[in-house]
Amino acid sequence: MSTALTILGIESSCDDTAAAVLRLDGAGARVLASVVMGQAALHADFGGVVPEIAARAHAEKLDIAVREALRRAGLGLHAMDAVAVTAGPGLIGGVLAGVMCAKGIAAGAGLPLVGVNHLAGHALTPRLTDGVAYPYLMLLVSGGHCQFLIVRGPEEFARIGGTIDDAPGEAFDKVARLLGLPQPGGPEVERAAATGDPARFRLPRPLLDRAGCDLSFSGLKTAVLRARDGIVAEKAGLTRQDRADLCAGFQAAVCDVLAEKTRRALALYLAEGPGAPLIAVAGGVAANGPIRAALRDVAAQAGARFLAPPLALCTDNAAMIAYAGAELYRLGHRDDLTLAARPRWPLDTASPAMLGHGKRGAKA
Ligand code: KG4
Ligand code: ZN
Repeated sequence: MSTALTILGIESSCDDTAAAVLRLDGAGARVLASVVMGQAALHADFGGVVPEIAARAHAEKLDIAVREALRRAGLGLHAMDAVAVTAGPGLIGGVLAGVMCAKGIAAGAGLPLVGVNHLAGHALTPRLTDGVAYPYLMLLVSGGHCQFLIVRGPEEFARIGGTIDDAPGEAFDKVARLLGLPQPGGPEVERAAATGDPARFRLPRPLLDRAGCDLSFSGLKTAVLRARDGIVAEKAGLTRQDRADLCAGFQAAVCDVLAEKTRRALALYLAEGPGAPLIAVAGGVAANGPIRAALRDVAAQAGARFLAPPLALCTDNAAMIAYAGAELYRLGHRDDLTLAARPRWPLDTASPAMLGHGKRGAKA
């Protein structure tokens, strides 16, 4: 491999202000520092991420995150070879704040600038963590996205399936809201589900009756709403056990749907060859224990390797942006001060847009 690269990464597409320093050399990629400053407390009273509050918080915290990442890495800006920044998709105010910050640093320190697709950051994480070779199959499951991708290169992605409505993280967040649990909902629902009975409520497994790898989570969320209303009508309120059982039922349905669709995606991918038998998962929902376990079983049954990044690299972070930026930089990519923030930016531009996909466009 060619000479070592040291890259500063910046991420601000949703509600995490993040900066990281990454080194890529012959031995692979090493995260020298990764700082993530979450905004959960700022949005807690609103039941979800408020774009304007998020953008302001990013603008206030980005330079602090960058300074802290450099301090932890023990390096100055002069030691960087380039600045990589999320240029979309995501909440436009946040993406703009990151892009402006990166432009300022690039112009001030005379560093090359590389704009990175946030989803590519998630999708390339298995290369960052395990040095996986192209091509590989990836299930990207986050707060705003859900897709099966064959990853062939840092800019070459073929989508073979995805959600036609909500993303699973969005569904976890909505279910938490329906049950009065705090945001972000995923970890709360997972915690509550641990003491629940998944069989008490008969919840649907959407789209399993339809061929292919597309998914849907909107009906499942509505089914949880109906079940909740049923209990409330009967008993005028929800007990802790009711909540736990609803969470367990919902999570079990998401597990079943993701497992079956992953089985199909893996079969499709393996039939296409000649990629290594491997399925990797990334995105915030990949932090969910039972979902990871279900996907690991599917991979084992198909004789494939299963790769899930450590939790800190599943959820939004800037190390993945620095890594994707490093790969692009190696290919000769350079952006300049005209780099634009893109609220929407699909990875697979050849396939038609998914029905409802990116409807909310808020999270990636
Ligand atoms: O990738 P991410 O950090 O942000 C983007 O959407 O880009 O994913 C955040 C999403 C949220 O919807 C959150 O509720 C969900 O990931 N999430 C989880 C878990 N941890 C985070 N969903 C299910 N179980 C979890 N343990
Ligand atoms: Zn993300």
